[in-house]
Amino acid sequence: MSAPLLEVRGLARRFGGVAALDDCSLTVRRSTVTGLIGPNGSGKTTLFNVVTGYLRADAGQILLEGRRVARPDPARLYRRGLCRTFQQPRVFADLSVLENLLIASGRRRAALAGPRVRADDRDRAEALLAEFSLAGLADDPAEELSYGQRKLLEFAALLMSSPSLVLLDEPTAGVNPTMVRTMERHIRARHAAGTAFLVVEHDMNLVMRLCDPVVVMAGGRVIAQGPPGDVQADPLVLDAYLGG
Ligand SMILES: Nc1ncnc2c1ncn2[C@@H]1O[C@H](COP(=O)(O)OP(=O)(O)O)[C@@H](O)[C@H]1O
Ligand SMILES: [Mg+2]
Repeated sequence: MSAPLLEVRGLARRFGGVAALDDCSLTVRRSTVTGLIGPNGSGKTTLFNVVTGYLRADAGQILLEGRRVARPDPARLYRRGLCRTFQQPRVFADLSVLENLLIASGRRRAALAGPRVRADDRDRAEALLAEFSLAGLADDPAEELSYGQRKLLEFAALLMSSPSLVLLDEPTAGVNPTMVRTMERHIRARHAAGTAFLVVEHDMNLVMRLCDPVVVMAGGRVIAQGPPGDVQADPLVLDAYLGG
């Protein structure tokens, strides 16, 4: 069997007296939408930050397709097909919606204006805007978008890099039910096209119908993983949520 897309082994990260990650190990296999759940403060965002190179681990290993990532660096990982969204969506507020996609292609910001934008980048960007129903807003500054639209734009922009694995940090938090369904539709469409996902999500109904397997964290480590139905029935998981 081929190596998993992503494997982390024994990750540790402390903040002062808090062990945000404590011997955390998990695997994301190809062609999965893997769910990552756990109470607030269980280390999910810290895991994303360490895996994507925004934070250094104190200990542990990260492997991409079986190869050790010695010094995770966000830009290099992005070029290797690993990218992520943020719990609070990050877009370039003063750039237009279209420019947010063009800049995600990795070309220089100075080259955004005029004929130096590569035609294939522009075509990809316009196709993504159409796919995400943002075409009518292409020339509007991103700061004029609603919160949900910014989350969609952030998602669309990272698809400019044709990622193999996307880490989504609470993609539906704070957005209305229509936007939740829209986000789910886009995840499913990209999954069908071959992209794998690791999704931190609090909406349990969404996790149960979208994700398999589901990984559960508590206190900085993985306490359960498996098919969604099994995880939901696991007494350890119920304890983690109810026991506080
Ligand atoms: N930059 C930071 N500085 C200090 N403590 C942090 C920082 N980031 C996270 N923590 C702490 O680490 C723990 C895990 O946080 P986090 O990874 O954000 O959890 P989750 O995303 O599961 O809610 C929490 O106790 C949190 O307060
Ligand atoms: Mg978080």
